[in-house]
Amino acid sequence: MVPKIFCFLQFFTLFTVTFASTEEATALLKWKATFQNQNNSLLASWRLSVGACTDWYGVICFNGQINRLNITNAGVIGTLHDFPFSSLPFLEYVDLSMNQLSGINELGSLKNLNDLKLSSNQISGSIPMTLGDLTELKFLYLHSNQLSGPIPSELGNLKNLNDLELCDNQLTGSIPITLGDLTELKILWLYSNQLSGLIPRELGNLKNLTDMELFQNKLSGSIPISLGDLTELKILYLHSNQLSSLIPVEIGKMKSLEVLALQSNNLSGPIPITLGDLTELESLHLYSNQLSGPIPRELGNLKNLSDLELQENQLTGPIPASFGNLRKLQFCHLPDHLCQDGKLENFTVASNKLTGPIPRSLSKCSSFKWVRFNNNSFTGNLSEAFGIYPELLFIDLSDNDFHGELSSNWGKCKKLIDLRVARNNISGSIPLEIGNVKGLLGLDLSLNHLIGQIPKEFGKLTSLLNLSNNKFGQKIPKEIGRITQLNVLDLSYNLLVGDIPPQLANLKVLVNLNLSHNGLFGRIPQELESLTGLQDVTLSYNELEGPIPNNMAFINASLEGNKGLCGNVAGLQPCERPSSMVKKHSMTKGCKLTLITILPAMGALVLLCVFIGVLFMCNKRRRVREVERRDGDGWLSISMLDGKELYRDILNATEEFDAKFCIGRGGHGSVYKVNLPSLGNIAVKRLHSSFQNTHPKSFINEVRALTGIKHRNIVNLYGYCSKAQHSLLVYEYVERGSLASILSNEVESKILDWLKRVNIIKGVAYALSYMHQDCSPPIVHRDISSSNVLLGSEYEARVADFGLAKILNPDSSNCTTLAGTYGYVAPELAYTMKVTQMCDVYSFGVLSLEIVKGKHLGEYITVLANSLTIDSEHLSDLLDERLPYPEDRVKDILVFIIKLACSCLLETPKSRPTMHFISHKLSSMDARPPIHQRNPYVMRAI
Ligand SMILES: *[C@@H]1O[C@H](CO)[C@@H](O)[C@H](O)[C@H]1NC(C)=O
Ligand SMILES: *[C@@H]1O[C@H](CO)[C@@H](O)[C@H](O)[C@H]1NC(C)=O
Ligand SMILES: *[C@@H]1O[C@H](CO)[C@@H](O)[C@H](O)[C@H]1NC(C)=O
Ligand SMILES: *[C@@H]1O[C@H](CO)[C@@H](O)[C@H](O)[C@H]1NC(C)=O
Ligand SMILES: *[C@@H]1O[C@H](CO)[C@@H](O)[C@H](O)[C@H]1NC(C)=O
Repeated sequence: MVPKIFCFLQFFTLFTVTFASTEEATALLKWKATFQNQNNSLLASWRLSVGACTDWYGVICFNGQINRLNITNAGVIGTLHDFPFSSLPFLEYVDLSMNQLSGINELGSLKNLNDLKLSSNQISGSIPMTLGDLTELKFLYLHSNQLSGPIPSELGNLKNLNDLELCDNQLTGSIPITLGDLTELKILWLYSNQLSGLIPRELGNLKNLTDMELFQNKLSGSIPISLGDLTELKILYLHSNQLSSLIPVEIGKMKSLEVLALQSNNLSGPIPITLGDLTELESLHLYSNQLSGPIPRELGNLKNLSDLELQENQLTGPIPASFGNLRKLQFCHLPDHLCQDGKLENFTVASNKLTGPIPRSLSKCSSFKWVRFNNNSFTGNLSEAFGIYPELLFIDLSDNDFHGELSSNWGKCKKLIDLRVARNNISGSIPLEIGNVKGLLGLDLSLNHLIGQIPKEFGKLTSLLNLSNNKFGQKIPKEIGRITQLNVLDLSYNLLVGDIPPQLANLKVLVNLNLSHNGLFGRIPQELESLTGLQDVTLSYNELEGPIPNNMAFINASLEGNKGLCGNVAGLQPCERPSSMVKKHSMTKGCKLTLITILPAMGALVLLCVFIGVLFMCNKRRRVREVERRDGDGWLSISMLDGKELYRDILNATEEFDAKFCIGRGGHGSVYKVNLPSLGNIAVKRLHSSFQNTHPKSFINEVRALTGIKHRNIVNLYGYCSKAQHSLLVYEYVERGSLASILSNEVESKILDWLKRVNIIKGVAYALSYMHQDCSPPIVHRDISSSNVLLGSEYEARVADFGLAKILNPDSSNCTTLAGTYGYVAPELAYTMKVTQMCDVYSFGVLSLEIVKGKHLGEYITVLANSLTIDSEHLSDLLDERLPYPEDRVKDILVFIIKLACSCLLETPKSRPTMHFISHKLSSMDARPPIHQRNPYVMRAI
């Protein structure tokens, strides 16, 4: 009996194959005929001569009807528009994902469909409302297409849906509240779209949800407290939206949560202590928000946590104080708990306002891999705070107030790739053991008080080294030449002496060499000529002499402030020819004799000079003065003027400050143009009567220092005089007035052509670089704006009011009392109190863009700060329409300036370039047309 039944079944199947599915097969073949690639080898089996159910690729039948169609990743190039859905009514499973299908289709006819997978195609248009009719659907994958428009609220009818993936499209509008009806839903992926509006609180009804990913949209408002009801949820990704307000304490009810990512939003208030209830949590990302208050001790309960990232918030308080207390109280202790279980790998609290020493217990965190404490106000002795971390890859402790020495324990962190302790107060010398960390690629110990030698052991390291701004003395070890993978060698601002070792020529992949501001002497080894990959060389302010290597990087290098470098380069003496050397050697006997006796003494003298040079290296003004003396301009300074007489002359000449002599008004006072027989034209700034000179002595000292500053791009301050009713600052008169007034004038702004504007930008950069870099202590302008940039007769930039903000507010090291001009003030000044050079860099960025555009860019500045590319469409928006569109070469320079300016606008001050860097970059550009530009083809035609 059994074989008979078997035969009957087989017969039935055959019968249906040959008859019932012919219509379906024909429909599929019609669709195939529309493909752009008819030669598709996978679908070659789709032919009428063979059975669709038995032989067709990707086709599975049930009861002779096509039931499943799976042609994922089959290389189909066609349209979905032509897909014969209505001819395939028995389909339950359709997977067309990962092809090159475009178009969209009304899909509502497939009432039996369970799975619809159309992801990773090129489907555009909006999601059809009729999808809501496919009420049997369990899996709906439309992700990674080009779908636009809103999510239809009809999707709320898909009551059986388990998995809804619409991510990675261009969907707009808000999330329909009807999605809250999809109670069977386990996975909801809507990320990487343009969705806006609130997160519907109805999503809290999705009790079976395990994975909710809404990140990278434009969702705003607060996180609904109803989400706390999602007790099955394991993954919650809401990051990179515009969510604001507090993190709801109800999140602590999501007991299954393993990953919580809320970073890059605008969440404020404290970190809820209820997060400590999420005992399954492995990864907690709250970074880049506005969270404040302390790190709650309850986070210590999170025993499964391996990744805790809290950087870039406003968190305060000492990690140690709170955790230290906890230990005493026998409560959970963050470091102990997190570390004893050996889970915490990533711990980043960088860029907050955390204080106090690092808890000792952190030394037990043997699982540490990526650790960032940088940019806080941590204190304490560095050598006591940290232990040996066998797994550690990266640690950044920069920009804190750590003191003490570098521990040799760092040499036992064998996997370390990058160690950064820049800008602290660490002292002592570098432990030799660090040279044993073979894989170390980055070492930044710059701006500390390290002394001693650079260990020879560093020859074992293979890459990047930044030891700048320390007090390393003695010679550069020749072993550095063994670090053959080194890209950047920055030993600037140390006390290094001796020759540059020729072994540096072994650093074949070196790109950036900075040995500036040391006491290096002798010749630059000619061997360095072979370093063809070098791009940026800075050797300024040493005692180097002799010819420079014949290599583009050296020809373009910063070499100023050396003893006697020569070469065929602008700014350097040509090297003496051998013939003149011969002459020197054939001197008379008398000369030789004196030379012989003098030479040893001279040698000692040279050494002494080097020594003194090293000692006084930081006092750069010395060199500046020398340069000025050479200029021989004979400027007047405060001491040369008889204050009383000057005061009387000014009063007479202005008819006691009659308004007709007033040429400008600013935050600090009014400016008068005064013509004096003795001085010619001068500008006199009469300070507001509200100005109280509370520190007359330091004030005079500051003014005296400022009068000593001479730079071609800085308006000279001649002096100061004060009587009971008036305080006057006396300045050089600058002919063409302020840049602001010229830019706002239709006629004059056109005279200010592209080349003049580029030169103005350069001039301002040079002035700022000089005040930041070459003055000691650096002078921050604090109020760079187009009103403070004056133009001389050749339209060269002259920056006015340097240092004024400070001398008029001597007690304020902060910017809140400072009269920075609105629209130019760096964003950090809204919340930090520190005035740094980087405030000026920001204002310089704003100003440069203003000069190129012809007016202040206003709110657009914040957009630019985040833009990485300047395309040509973008460019014309940024150019002054009153000027003709620039020719290519000038256009390139303007694009370069715009990019440089945008980098000045970066929100994190430390990410901005220094003025030194900027002026260096700008000075290497030449906007003028080449003098001997000839077209060889034209020549031939003549
Ligand atoms: C298939 O045809 C397309 C053009 O329709 C062609 O670009 C491609 O190289 C062909 N592939 C094969 C394997 O012949
Ligand atoms: C669909 O086809 C691909 C490629 O042949 C295969 O790897 C995959 O397992 C199939 N999917 C299903 C659900 O049968
Ligand atoms: C959730 O899932 C469970 C089993 O996985 C199921 O019994 C239940 O019906 C689902 N729906 C709701 C709303 O709980
Ligand atoms: C962020 O939130 C604060 C209030 O906490 C608000 O003042 C600010 O405008 C918000 N910023 C953005 C970009 O939404
Ligand atoms: C730690 O951070 C690194 C780099 O950001 C990342 O690659 C790694 O996956 C993180 N580790 C954990 C456990 O999240």
